[in-house]
Amino acid sequence: MPRRSTIFKLCFLVYTSWYAGWKLFSLSGQQFMRRPLKSQLLILSSWRSGSSFVGQLFNQSPDVFYLLEPTRHVWTIFSRRSPNFIQAPMRDLLRAIFSCNMSAFEPYIQKHQFVSNLFGWKESRALCSPPVCNALLRSDFIDRPKCMHICHQSPFEKMEEACRTYSHVVVKVVRFLNLPILYPLLKDPSLNLKIIHLVRDPRAILSSREYLPGLNVDDTIISRAQNSSRNISVVMQEICQAQVQIYKAASQNPPPFLKDRYLMVRHEDLVRDPLAYLREWYDYVGLSITPKLESWVYNITHRAISNDRGFMHFSGDSLKIAQKWRKKLSFQKVKEVQELCKQEMDMFGYQRVWSEEHLKNMSLELVLPQGMY
Ligand SMILES: *[C@@H]1O[C@H](CO)[C@@H](O)[C@H](O)[C@H]1NC(C)=O
Ligand SMILES: *[C@@H]1O[C@H](CO)[C@@H](O)[C@H](O)[C@H]1NC(C)=O
Ligand SMILES: *[C@@H]1O[C@H](CO)[C@@H](O)[C@H](O)[C@H]1NC(C)=O
Ligand SMILES: *[C@@H]1O[C@H](CO)[C@@H](O)[C@H](O)[C@H]1NC(C)=O
Ligand SMILES: *[C@@H]1O[C@H](CO)[C@@H](O)[C@H](O)[C@H]1NC(C)=O
Repeated sequence: MPRRSTIFKLCFLVYTSWYAGWKLFSLSGQQFMRRPLKSQLLILSSWRSGSSFVGQLFNQSPDVFYLLEPTRHVWTIFSRRSPNFIQAPMRDLLRAIFSCNMSAFEPYIQKHQFVSNLFGWKESRALCSPPVCNALLRSDFIDRPKCMHICHQSPFEKMEEACRTYSHVVVKVVRFLNLPILYPLLKDPSLNLKIIHLVRDPRAILSSREYLPGLNVDDTIISRAQNSSRNISVVMQEICQAQVQIYKAASQNPPPFLKDRYLMVRHEDLVRDPLAYLREWYDYVGLSITPKLESWVYNITHRAISNDRGFMHFSGDSLKIAQKWRKKLSFQKVKEVQELCKQEMDMFGYQRVWSEEHLKNMSLELVLPQGMY
C-alpha cells in the first residue's frame, strides 16, 4: 500500500509540474504573441513647444529609428483641405512608418529618389548611419553638416531596410488636434505604441512663433477652417484647444487601451530637470541609457554650443531660454493670448499676469508646481 501511494504521489507531482510548465509556457507564448518585439513612441505636441528637443533625446539612442515631422508631407499635399480632413491620412502614414513601411510616403513625396527628399532627414541619426549611410556610427550623436555632405544621395529605399533593424521607432509630430484619431494605432495588436504629450505655456509659444517664418501654410490651413484669413490669434486658440482636447481624452475616463501608454509633460518641467525626464522616458519605452548620453544631454542643456553640430535652438542654458518670452512679448499680446487660451492655462498650471510689472518681474514664478493645478 505505501508503494501505491508513492506512485500516486509521483504521478500527481509529474502531472502538476507538467501542468504548471505547460501553463507557464502557454502564458509566455501568449505574451509573446500579444506583445510585438518592436516598440513605437509618438511625441505629440504643437508648434514651438520644444518637441524637437524631446525628439533628439531619443534620436541619440543606437536602438532608435527616429523621424521628425514626417506627416508634414501629408499636410502640404492637402493644404487646400481642412485640418480635420488631414488628420486621418496623417494617422495612416504614421501607422505605416511605425511598421517600417516606407512605401506609404509615395503619394506624398513626388520625387522620392533619395532619403534627402524627406523633410527633416538630416536630423535623424538613423538616416546618417548604416545601413543607410556611413557618415556616422549608430552609437554617434547627430552631426548635421557631416550627414548632409555625405548622405544626401542615399537611396530612399534604404530607409525601410534601416527601420527594420531597430527595436524602437520614434516619431515626433505637431499637427494632430485630437487624440481619438490615434486610437486605431493604440488598439493595433501589431504595434506597441506609447505617447508622450508635450505642452508649453502658450505665451512662450506665441513669442517663439513671432520670430519664425515658415509656418504660414499651417497658419492658413488652421485659420481657414475657422472662416478666417491667416490670423495668429485664431491659430493660438486652436493650438490651445487641441492640447485641452488631447489631455481631456487621456485623463477623464480614458479608454482601457490608453493605460500606461500616455504621458503628459510640461516643457517648463522638462527644462528644469532634463536628465530626470530622460531616465523616466527611457524606462517608459524600454530603452537603456548610457553615461555618454547623460553627459551629452547635460552638455546641450547647460552649455552654449558654438557650432552647428548640435542643435542651436535648444543649446545653452535651457532654463533661462524657457523664460525669455517674458522679456520679448508685449503685455498687450500677453493679455490677448491669456484670453484666448484661458482653459489651457488653467488646465496646465500657467498663471496669468495682470500688469506689465508682474510680467517683467522675473522673480515672480508663473508656472505652478506639479500637482498644484
Ligand atoms: C504599406 O503601405 C501602403 C500604403 O499605405 C499599403 O498600401 C501597403 O499595403 C503597405 N504594405 C504592407 C506590407 O503593409
Ligand atoms: C464657416 O462658414 C460656413 C459657411 O458659412 C459654415 O457652415 C461653418 O459653420 C463656418 N465654420 C465656423 C468654424 O465658423
Ligand atoms: C484675428 O482674430 C481675432 C480673434 O478672432 C480678431 O479679433 C482679429 O480682428 C483678427 N485679426 C485680423 C487681422 O483679421
Ligand atoms: C560634455 O562636456 C565635457 C566638458 O566639455 C566633455 O569633456 C564631455 O566629453 C562632453 N560629453 C559629451 C558626451 O560630449
Ligand atoms: C518683484 O517681485 C518681488 C516679490 O513680490 C518684489 O519683492 C520685488 O520688489 C519686485 N521687483 C520689482 C522690480 O518690482
